[in-house]
Amino acid sequence: MSFLAWSSCLATLVVVSQCARIRIDVGSNGAPALIYTPRTVTAQVGDIVDFHFIDENAASSVVRGIAGAPCTPYPAKKEGFFNSGFILGEPTGSNVFSVEVNETTPIPIYCSVGGHCRAGMVGYINPGQGDFEAYASGAAALSKNEPPPMVPQTGGVYQQGVENGLIVITFVNAPSGGGGKGGKGGHQWGYGW
Ligand SMILES: *[C@@H]1O[C@H](CO)[C@@H](O)[C@H](O)[C@H]1NC(C)=O
Repeated sequence: MSFLAWSSCLATLVVVSQCARIRIDVGSNGAPALIYTPRTVTAQVGDIVDFHFIDENAASSVVRGIAGAPCTPYPAKKEGFFNSGFILGEPTGSNVFSVEVNETTPIPIYCSVGGHCRAGMVGYINPGQGDFEAYASGAAALSKNEPPPMVPQTGGVYQQGVENGLIVITFVNAPSGGGGKGGKGGHQWGYGW
């Protein structure tokens, strides 16, 4: 089993504790199930947003979206794109997808599974005033599901723990490495989408 420490965050934590880890729960086992909690967060450059997948009944995802075009992916080749791929939740939230925030630009996020985005599975990192509301109402107004991004997922599924006072991230599933193209878009866990 290999351990990966998030070095930039870790170094900062050890020295001055500037680096924050921000938790967003993906889905829930209550109602509404198709939701990010909280739906908006404020993050500084260098902070890490940890998406904890909770819903054990349905796989979900976290994809960077485009402001003004709800439920469609940010260009995959552009820096800063992220896509968790489809991940089944687990009630304690031990399935985690982590994104390091490198910019102050408002970042819309959405779930690319089926009709999840239209149903309200949308959120925002660092929204400007009204950004989230506009994105959410635009998503709700869509008349059909957008297809999932045909691009490789980034990152992987991790489990987080603390060892000797340090946060360690354990790979549960290796990331796809970016080579995948078309079809299933590099999803490795076979949930059947
Ligand atoms: C932020 O930068 C780090 C270090 O270069 C990189 O690993 C990470 O993927 C970047 N985050 C995003 C969302 O692109």
